[in-house]
Amino acid sequence: MGSKVSRRSFLRTSAVGASAVALASAGSARGFAANEKVQLGWIGYGGRATGLMQKILKSCPDARIAAICDLKPNRIEAGQKDAERDKPRGYTDLREMMDKEKLDGILVVTEPNKHAETVIPVLERNIHCFAEKPMDITVEACDAITVAARKSKGIYQIGTQRRYHPTYIKAMKAIHDGLMGRVTFMQGGWHWSSDPSGAPVARDGGRLIEQASHHMDVMSWVMKNQHPTTCVAMAFQDQSLVPGSQLNNPNEFSETKSATIFKFPDGVLFSYTHLWVLPGKYDEEILLAFGQKGGMDFNEGLYTGRDEKEQRFGPRIGKGWDEGSTEELIDFVDNIKTGGKRVPNANVETGRICSLMCIMGRMAMVNKAKNAYEPSVVKWEDLKSTTDLPAKA
Ligand SMILES: NC(=O)c1ccc[n+]([C@@H]2O[C@H](COP(=O)([O-])OP(=O)(O)OC[C@H]3O[C@@H](n4cnc5c(N)ncnc54)[C@H](O)[C@@H]3O)[C@@H](O)[C@H]2O)c1
Repeated sequence: MGSKVSRRSFLRTSAVGASAVALASAGSARGFAANEKVQLGWIGYGGRATGLMQKILKSCPDARIAAICDLKPNRIEAGQKDAERDKPRGYTDLREMMDKEKLDGILVVTEPNKHAETVIPVLERNIHCFAEKPMDITVEACDAITVAARKSKGIYQIGTQRRYHPTYIKAMKAIHDGLMGRVTFMQGGWHWSSDPSGAPVARDGGRLIEQASHHMDVMSWVMKNQHPTTCVAMAFQDQSLVPGSQLNNPNEFSETKSATIFKFPDGVLFSYTHLWVLPGKYDEEILLAFGQKGGMDFNEGLYTGRDEKEQRFGPRIGKGWDEGSTEELIDFVDNIKTGGKRVPNANVETGRICSLMCIMGRMAMVNKAKNAYEPSVVKWEDLKSTTDLPAKA
């Protein structure tokens, strides 16, 4: 999708993202003159924020970077240098930033376990908020964000960028319109040659929670934003793959391999593998959905019927895990500029489900009290989330 205008109009006319969930409309609105900029602040300016900043500067001419907040002065300086064009002021305290600046929107790009404490203050001030995935790493924190987001007059948009990718949007619409008949089975995976053992569980809840929210999100989207009913999983830290390591401590170090299976209503299964330290040629993302009449390979952008006829929904994505991020940022800025009334494709309800699915998988593979990899069957109710919406009649 080439121009900014075509991306925008594509997103506006592609209402599949949030179609199946009951959502209150967002709206911390102020009027903008045609040439007036949306004033943006940042909370957290680490690795991911640096990439998002480049995209905003390049593709969002209606945005001005007004302020950057990080706990680390060197990160503030890095952000100020990156956004030199806009001369943002720097802060180490997010509340001081919100007190002193007139911000229309804030991007929260802190570590996964810091999301509740950095997102909720933004939502409570009814400032539009783009927050990175996962929602947070515990059920309690996800519930707290969910309550704040449902109450806020500001948008809550979560960073599951596949919801903004033209191929996913088109393919998902076709699936929901009946292209493959009843969905029967979904397969997902993220396979890496790198070593995950340096990623602390205290920060991101384990690699499944930090990374797989993207794939959980796509598959619950296939299921029209339903959540699964049941999950089983196994995981291990394989010390033979990381020489010299003493990793056998699931509460501290990340798993090096896991296999998780979810059951959705009507017996639809979703099988997901998360593997590490593989030969480089196996580095890949797998996102497949099968139905009575055929199968969709989202990453290939290709549907194949059981009659072997193919239908293309976009070019191959391959290792383009970041694709969709430019579109999600354009949509965030555009939504604010046009009054903040649209429910984002990636919103509180979709973000809640994909994040809770990751936590469910983690619960099914780790006995936290025993600090041991011990598989169990986890039902959605076992999450004890207090924010499930009443079932539709
Ligand atoms: N959507 C994607 O594809 C994608 C890709 C990579 C990372 N992410 C997500 O982005 C988020 C950030 O990841 P990262 O790798 O950039 O982390 P990081 O550790 O590099 O950066 C986080 C920054 O937040 C700052 N911070 C923490 N608490 C703060 C507070 N109270 N006030 C101000 N600043 C605070 C830290 O000092 C740090 O500089 C994570 O949630 C991660 O899962 C998403």
